Amino acid sequence: MKENQSRIGNLGAQRLNEIAFSGIRKVFDTVRKLESDGRDIIHWQIGRTDFDTPGHIKAAAIDSLNRGDVHYAPNRGVPALRKAIAEQTARETGIDVAEDGQVIVMTGANEGVLVSMLAFLNPGDEVLIPSPNWPHYKACASIAGGVPVEVDTKEEDRFALSAERVAEHITPRTKILCVTSPGNPTGCVQTKETLQALANLAIEHNLIVVSDEIYNRIYFGDDARTAASIYSIPGMQERTIIVNGFSKTYSMDGWRLGWTVASPEVTLMLLKIRQYTTVCVSTFSQHGAAVGLTGDQAPVEERVAAFAERRSIIVEGLRSIPGVSVAEPLGAFYAFPNIGSFGKSSEEMADYLLQEHGIAAVAGNVFGSAGEGFIRIAYSCSTDDCRRGIERMAKALASL
Ligand SMILES: Cc1ncc(COP(=O)(O)O)c(C=O)c1O
Repeated sequence: MKENQSRIGNLGAQRLNEIAFSGIRKVFDTVRKLESDGRDIIHWQIGRTDFDTPGHIKAAAIDSLNRGDVHYAPNRGVPALRKAIAEQTARETGIDVAEDGQVIVMTGANEGVLVSMLAFLNPGDEVLIPSPNWPHYKACASIAGGVPVEVDTKEEDRFALSAERVAEHITPRTKILCVTSPGNPTGCVQTKETLQALANLAIEHNLIVVSDEIYNRIYFGDDARTAASIYSIPGMQERTIIVNGFSKTYSMDGWRLGWTVASPEVTLMLLKIRQYTTVCVSTFSQHGAAVGLTGDQAPVEERVAAFAERRSIIVEGLRSIPGVSVAEPLGAFYAFPNIGSFGKSSEEMADYLLQEHGIAAVAGNVFGSAGEGFIRIAYSCSTDDCRRGIERMAKALASL
């Protein structure tokens, strides 16, 4: 028994040692405490949108509930939602998707990631995870008995994933490559050329690609309405699991709704696990979400436009602060400024900004070792707060 551990604590599974409490949650706790002491805080820590779910989606869920949709849904999801997801994915990727065999409605994108790991990893299998990145891939890989392997990305490459660097980390145990585009915490979007190079590697080494596209419609590039998907590349449909969801695009994070799209063969493998994880998502939420995809898309367009405006304020503001650099984020609602020149670690800087200047951001190292020297700013706040935050940050850094 470990020192200071109770007899019950000692019963905990070994996998608990591989999993940390979320560094993002820690910031939330401190913010709550400071606000209860009357402090004015700029909320740059929140990885969710500050908008409400569009009214027509809520109304459709309420109608569904009133109709009596209170029983289990099929494990794969209700047909209306699967159809909407299949059609949406086909529009975005240019590849036909079968609503019956290729779509599973998940309890958020997170369940899509976890189920993918559980379906493909044997103990000791390796998962390549670009760093910095959303910490859940690492935790989900560990829960499934896999070994997360970080592949560093760099600010000077705008945090693009280098196929050469990925190749250096491939071993006979490598099973899954995670691709997140647009990315959290950097807002990086992988180019079509990068995706092609990664696809070549995945095909050569027989890897599954978990392609997290949850921010694909919060995209600021002028070449397309959505960020490119690796699923579109010939040869990738059999080995790619698209993970996507409603949390960001439709401000439905509390609804816990996402999906996977994969080949019929892979979908059956995912489904085997999914039957026993969350079984299904609540039926009436799925009917609301279906209307989200098929109904009026104006709210999505308005929100993306609002994010674009905030992004300009944040990126231009950060670049005007001496000693700070920031790679241009092309998607999502994050900026990942380099604060390494101020002689503080990421955690010290995040603490300093919060405690001394009322700016809540997340230390970059929470997102992997390559995030050291950076902080994550989520511009899911009003344009006023974006401006106020930049002014505060300029002052805070000038006084160091
Ligand atoms: C890259 C990425 N994927 C997935 C999620 C979570 O999605 P969901 O709420 O659908 O589980 C997040 C949330 O922050 C994210 O940043």
